[in-house]
Amino acid sequence: MNGSIASLLRATGFGTLMCALAIATTPVQADEATPQLPQMGFNNWNSTHCRDEFDEGMIRGIADKFISLGLKDAGYQYVNVDDCWANWQRDKDGHLTPNPKRFPSGIAALADYIHQRGLKFGLYSSAGTSTCEPLQENRGFPGGLGHEKDDAATFASWHVDYLKYDNCNNQKIDAKKRYKDMADALRATGRPIFFSVCEWGENKPWLWAGKAPVDAQSWRTTGDITDTYASMLKIFKQNVVLDRYASLGHWNDPDMLEVGNGGMTDVEYRSHFSLWAIMASPLLIGTDLRTIKPEALQILLNKDVIAIDQDPLGVQGKQVRDAGGIHVIVKPLKDGGHAVAVFNEGNAAKDVTVTPKEIGLKTGGSYTLRDLWTHTDTKGDGSIKTKLEPHATVMYRISQ
Ligand code: GLA
Repeated sequence: MNGSIASLLRATGFGTLMCALAIATTPVQADEATPQLPQMGFNNWNSTHCRDEFDEGMIRGIADKFISLGLKDAGYQYVNVDDCWANWQRDKDGHLTPNPKRFPSGIAALADYIHQRGLKFGLYSSAGTSTCEPLQENRGFPGGLGHEKDDAATFASWHVDYLKYDNCNNQKIDAKKRYKDMADALRATGRPIFFSVCEWGENKPWLWAGKAPVDAQSWRTTGDITDTYASMLKIFKQNVVLDRYASLGHWNDPDMLEVGNGGMTDVEYRSHFSLWAIMASPLLIGTDLRTIKPEALQILLNKDVIAIDQDPLGVQGKQVRDAGGIHVIVKPLKDGGHAVAVFNEGNAAKDVTVTPKEIGLKTGGSYTLRDLWTHTDTKGDGSIKTKLEPHATVMYRISQ
């Protein structure tokens, strides 16, 4: 199907809007318990979609792997469940319930299992009459539109820590209103719930989603990523120019990671991870950690690169060069240093020089350059000279 028709059908849906929309009046308050740095964790969508393997056993297994593989120690925190967790219908009182085949023990038990391991639990819904997948015989999984208060209360009662709120079947109701209604409902529960807006950048959420009255912690800036270099590149280009809209607690979200899913080379996956980190993006692992290969795990566990994503200054890197297929992105750091990523999007190797001036350093200074992939230090004037293989990225931390 033509992409725009598909997205229109997804957006408008087939059902009828059942309930009048709640008029939310809750005052917006900054939530001190909400983490301020880009969220790190796992989401099952990129690896399983709605296949049968997506169930409570899988999610428990992923939580176990967070501990045994060292991901929790590296800063990954959220274990998030995506679409297809819910039952086809609400219960007789109108509440959401889990699919009894996939989650027979219930969502609260799953959240408890995750909390017992010192991790946090995330769930998914859509700001529409049903979620994104699948629409069969005119029905989908129930969405949150018109049910915000009830659904938020349900999530809080299950001890959910994070809500990814999608955009399908939105009946063309104003996005700001739809996301505000859920944001208000989440706040009204009194439980800190990280609010991840997922409206694919359709209504320029970088202009409004991070501010009152929505005050979400992150917002998707693009359509869905797929496990190809072309998709990763396209999304990077859309997101990298939005740096000025990101700040502590309010992040551009270029979608979840594909590292480990097999559709890109390790060089491309290193670029994907480096670029997401320098853009201060959410780092949500999208591969099955129970079967991950060592090369992919090594990428996801690169603490030098993670530290750039999680730098407490909270600035998204700025692209200072986009010419001839070479991208240079510079991110100022809390300690006064700079992170620099140099990416070759093209299919031929290139020799690249980046000057101290381009990075924003004093000329004639003396600096330590730490290569964040080889973990080695060199001294110099702050300039970078490198030969970049096709699709490769070098990344440095430069300090005085
Ligand atoms: C949309 C979202 C995806 C995923 C699917 C689930 O496409 O953008 O990230 O959540 O829905 O159906």
